[in-house]
Amino acid sequence: MTALDTQRSRTYADDRAHVFHSWSAQGALDPLVVAGAEGSWFWDENGHRYLDFSSQLVNVNIGHQHPKLVAAIQEQAAKLCTIAPFHANEARSEAARLITELAPGDLDMVFFTNGGAEATENAVRMARLATGRHKVLTTYRSYHGATNGAIALTGEPRRWASEPAMPGVVHFWGPYPYRSAFHAASDAEECQRALAHLDDTLVVEGPGTVAAVLLESVVGTNGILVPPDGYLAGVREICDRHGIVFIADEVMSGFGRCGEWFAVDRWQVTPDLICFAKGVNSGYLPLGGVIISRRIADHFKDRPYPGGLTYSGHVLACASAVASIKIFKEEGVIEHARRLGEEVIGPELAKLKERHPSIGDVRGLGVFWAIELVRDRATREMLVPYNASGAAAKPMNDLAAACKARGLWPFTHFNRVHVVPPLTTSADEVRHGLAILDEALTVADQHAAG
Ligand SMILES: Cc1ncc(COP(=O)(O)O)c(C=O)c1O
Repeated sequence: MTALDTQRSRTYADDRAHVFHSWSAQGALDPLVVAGAEGSWFWDENGHRYLDFSSQLVNVNIGHQHPKLVAAIQEQAAKLCTIAPFHANEARSEAARLITELAPGDLDMVFFTNGGAEATENAVRMARLATGRHKVLTTYRSYHGATNGAIALTGEPRRWASEPAMPGVVHFWGPYPYRSAFHAASDAEECQRALAHLDDTLVVEGPGTVAAVLLESVVGTNGILVPPDGYLAGVREICDRHGIVFIADEVMSGFGRCGEWFAVDRWQVTPDLICFAKGVNSGYLPLGGVIISRRIADHFKDRPYPGGLTYSGHVLACASAVASIKIFKEEGVIEHARRLGEEVIGPELAKLKERHPSIGDVRGLGVFWAIELVRDRATREMLVPYNASGAAAKPMNDLAAACKARGLWPFTHFNRVHVVPPLTTSADEVRHGLAILDEALTVADQHAAG
């Protein structure tokens, strides 16, 4: 064994002995030891390279180890690493200005957090205090983070083990044309019925008790559910009618993922609060936040905001956000993301759907796409049951393994593969990844009716 081999096995052994991983039965884990990354690729300790079709957790929007972003962090580290949240600081001020310049309407203040969950927690706190109301409406098939409030807001199985969590959360159905909760036959019908359902939910909950409606502008992990045209505008109108705060969770959908700075831009809708994290600085350092409308910010002009974090507006993290936003602008990252979606991913996925009987639906925008796998296109029976684990999840696990064996790191969730590489991935790299997926999908086809 060489010294290098000893170090490698030491890393793995220390991980297994001492690192407690998220969302996992610790005994069942066999983590890849990642040695390095560049652009849209990362590699393990043995030099096996993977094209990153997951952007890790759909956060490395700018790609791995962008030299200008690394340099900006190094420069800031040499100048000033950290300062208490009550001081002002150049990097924090500039990050807040740049982010609010990008945000729609009168959203012109930022409360910085360390990530997405703290953003949704604080957005809800702001909405409750600003309205004097208590309830929060969020959709089934959503994820909003794993802290006590954020997991309560979440509309999927990751919430179950934490119940009862924060009281006052009511879940309702959002639009999902492929599996419509409203038996809708078209996008327009889905939009109209989903809005009527939200109206009905408010009638029975009492609109005067509802502080906020919180939505992922485009639902991420739970299926890349792109709302039909008119839905977000309709939610905006319903919130206005009842004095309810509209919170857009753009933790995954924001910062270019949907080919826009914020997904709401596509429909020209202005929420009252936008939660962000992930793509704001591609996770080079932990950072998130809430972009706050003037009206809600003013609520806390003469009364203190009862919330805070030691690392709110962390200097290094803010410097990385500043650098990242500048790189996006200089390199046309948003435009590239939009083109990748329209010219490469969308058309290529449509071709895959023609070839593979296991593909029931493909959908998405920008660099945010889902392939939904079924056993039967006619009945739309899912390739694996909802929330499957163990043997029941085997077809999906086999598909993921087939991708990895060919050098592609996929993002899978339930019966779906999401195509979510860094926004900076080249068209050729995307085509290379999709060609691997094409081969690997034969594994799923074995379970599908012809
Ligand atoms: C839409 C959405 N909101 C919130 C979160 C939570 O973010 P974090 O993991 O940074 O707390 C996530 C994470 O995946 C997310 O996708």
